[in-house]
Amino acid sequence: MSALPGAPHIAWRGHQLFVEGQSADALAREHGTPLYVYSRGAMLGALAAYQRALTGRQHLICYAMKANSTLAVLQTFAQAGCGFDIVSVGELERVLAAGGDASRVLFSGVGKRPDEMRRALEAGIKCFNVESVAELRTLSGVAQAMNRRAPVSLRINPDVDAGTHPYISTGLKGNKFGIAHDEALAAYRIAASLPGLEVAGIDCHIGSQITQLGPHLDALERLLDLIEALEAEGIAIRHIDVGGGLGITYTDEAPPDAGALVRQLCARIDARGHGARELLFEPGRSLVGNAGVLLTEVLVLKPGSVKNFCIVDAAMNDLLRPTLYDATMGIVPCTLRDGAPVLYDVVGPVCESGDWLGRDRALAVLPGDRLAILSAGAYAFAMASNYNSRPRAAEVMVEGDRAFVIREREKVAALFSNERLIDR
Ligand code: LLP
Repeated sequence: MSALPGAPHIAWRGHQLFVEGQSADALAREHGTPLYVYSRGAMLGALAAYQRALTGRQHLICYAMKANSTLAVLQTFAQAGCGFDIVSVGELERVLAAGGDASRVLFSGVGKRPDEMRRALEAGIKCFNVESVAELRTLSGVAQAMNRRAPVSLRINPDVDAGTHPYISTGLKGNKFGIAHDEALAAYRIAASLPGLEVAGIDCHIGSQITQLGPHLDALERLLDLIEALEAEGIAIRHIDVGGGLGITYTDEAPPDAGALVRQLCARIDARGHGARELLFEPGRSLVGNAGVLLTEVLVLKPGSVKNFCIVDAAMNDLLRPTLYDATMGIVPCTLRDGAPVLYDVVGPVCESGDWLGRDRALAVLPGDRLAILSAGAYAFAMASNYNSRPRAAEVMVEGDRAFVIREREKVAALFSNERLIDR
């Protein structure tokens, strides 16, 4: 058995690709394609790497559920003791529906509506990660009207370059996110003075798919500077939330592992005498990315004078990352066949030239074969759409030899069941 890079639960057994104890081809035959398949063991294993390194320290891992918010995924993390990082009331309702605990929920995001604030307060979330002074004032008003005090943390924009794709870099001055480091003291003074708020912590999140330790450590140092300045003024900070962002191996990236990241961050925190504070993490991709694959069937091989196309039944509506971020995700056959590989662009049936899943991939395939697109556990199904009136794919969770359908394939009729013809 040989595992795929960064994905110990997804491995070759001879010529066949397996997700834990289930063959990818057999799952595709049984459930159809496109099909998302996840390894529960991989998710729990990725979580355990954070948990092990945090043993003995007051901490909370809040899974950033935007990466994959399917109920059974949330249930898996809730049962393993996780909290959740949410960015909408829809995500809060998902957490509650999956059996998650509201008192372990952080509410992030630059634009929260008052009704979302109310619902989160009513549910009793752990903390609002606030991103502007205007939001502080609105939240205070909402909480006061409910006779409550909202626990808040300010998301600091530390002006640190995460060295990642511009669309997923969030900690630079020019980004819409967070409160500038040099405006943070003033914002905390306002937070401390508002009657509907209670200062609980401090947070940052500098970007996603970060493959170096340096940016995380630089951002932490800036948070610690602020904590010291705030406490000198009598504003107490209970928790430090270092956000998410740890990258994964898609092809040849070599990010630090979660244990190394946690240990280095803790060493800095301890060295500056802040070891007793509760430490919060908001990992998304690093918990689920390499736990998933997207299975798809080859429909047509279309040779050309400039490019050969391998047209498959998954498309940009199922997996937006390649075209949106120019992301390279591994693509392998579910069953290896003999024959000389040919260079293909792997593309879907959607009517856009941007509908590509992989470029210049060497594949030995025939129509009817199935391919697995790797690292598709994060920001894959979660970003799916119904463009071209394509129903969204089914999802299966594998645990050992067992496979559970955790989302049925969407039915075409459901796509327009909430639409109305004009009555005339
Ligand atoms: N916390 C906050 C406040 C965030 O905005 C995010 C991600 C996370 C945590 C989790 O970051 P992670 O550990 O997953 O890197 N769709 C893009 C990624 C967008 C990330 C948005 N924020 C992609 O497919 O690459």
